[in-house]
Amino acid sequence: MLPELKIGNLEVEKAIIQGGMGVGISLSGLATAVANEGGIGVISSIGIGYLKGERNKKGFSSNAHYLRDEIRRAKDGSTRGAIGVNIMVAISDFDELVKASIEEKADIIFAGAGLPLNLPGLARTIDPETQTKLGVIVSSARAANIICQSWHKKYHCLPDIIVVEGPKAGGHLGFHYDQIFDPNYSLEKILPEVWHTVHQFAQQYKKEIPIIAAGGIFTGEDIYQFMSLGADGVQMGTRFVATHECDAETQFKEVYVNCREDQVSIITSPVGLPGRVIKTEFIQQIEAGHRKPFTCPWKCLKTCNFKEAPYCIAEALINAQQGKMENGFAFAGSNVYKVDRIISVRELFRELEIGFDLSVAQYLEKDPLEFGNFRFVNL
Ligand SMILES: Cc1cc2nc3c(=O)[nH]c(=O)nc-3n(C[C@H](O)[C@H](O)[C@H](O)COP(=O)(O)O)c2cc1C
Repeated sequence: MLPELKIGNLEVEKAIIQGGMGVGISLSGLATAVANEGGIGVISSIGIGYLKGERNKKGFSSNAHYLRDEIRRAKDGSTRGAIGVNIMVAISDFDELVKASIEEKADIIFAGAGLPLNLPGLARTIDPETQTKLGVIVSSARAANIICQSWHKKYHCLPDIIVVEGPKAGGHLGFHYDQIFDPNYSLEKILPEVWHTVHQFAQQYKKEIPIIAAGGIFTGEDIYQFMSLGADGVQMGTRFVATHECDAETQFKEVYVNCREDQVSIITSPVGLPGRVIKTEFIQQIEAGHRKPFTCPWKCLKTCNFKEAPYCIAEALINAQQGKMENGFAFAGSNVYKVDRIISVRELFRELEIGFDLSVAQYLEKDPLEFGNFRFVNL
């Protein structure tokens, strides 16, 4: 059986987190389905107002309003598990989205794509008694160290949960291009490094901080592998896209089903980070030097060089979410080419659980005394 996950006083039955996926790929539909299987369903907070058709300045300011709706819907619809919100630090309305998540009593905030150095202060100003757990997503021990050091000094606290996202993940990656395929930066390598860094801080606070592995995890056997390396749980994105409950249009999911291995590629996104995508017609055109002129009414990402960008990434991602793949593209993890059909979230959980149980059984047969005793023994 998949282990449970404890995040302070929040207990979740199954240690599987569905990663937040923007724009509009993981909203309340997917998050509710995952929570109802006993995992953590995560709503992506980026661009929801814009997605709801308000493609003007008002659309930007309505993101927080629509995020509140999504959190309420997910919390009302779920009877188990937990509901999280993914908020990118690089987004211009970060503070408003944190406020909405805390006021709507999301169980967890996952802050990624940057260093959320002011998050505890912000959360406490909004509600000093907040029970919303504060999670961070990092891609290196260095980033984990900066965040822990800064929260410890300024706010006398540490993150409640840390997701370590390796270079096989889908979406924007926290690596330089040349690190993505370098084994020194693999998830297997950075996961123990982050654990050791965080553990030193956690000991001072006598706090358990779950460390979650993300990026390229596809099967129950993979979950077992990363848990046996010491992870307390996993975060998965790609597998959850190919589900009926995923909030993207079917055409988006079909791009996953039809993807060949040689189509999985890395782009430099207008945000200034590398990103893993499926190379469709749109990406080929951009790579061939085509530009898709646009006006930017709000500058949704702090780091977007919109004057030079060949296309608007928000626009392209929303088009894709709505199934207009000729004017957009799909982010995806390195294993996306293995997706062969769209299934329900329930079927996916069953498949992962069976794979995990088989791996445990095989291991127990080989070495019964060692099971559960292998936290980062190789570091
Ligand atoms: C379509 C897609 C969109 C994503 N969007 C975001 C996002 O908005 N914010 C974020 O922190 N991570 C994002 N991610 C990363 C996922 O949350 C997750 O960590 C990652 O996909 C895990 O790797 P996997 O896809 O190999 O399972 C995205 C991933 C995908 C596939």
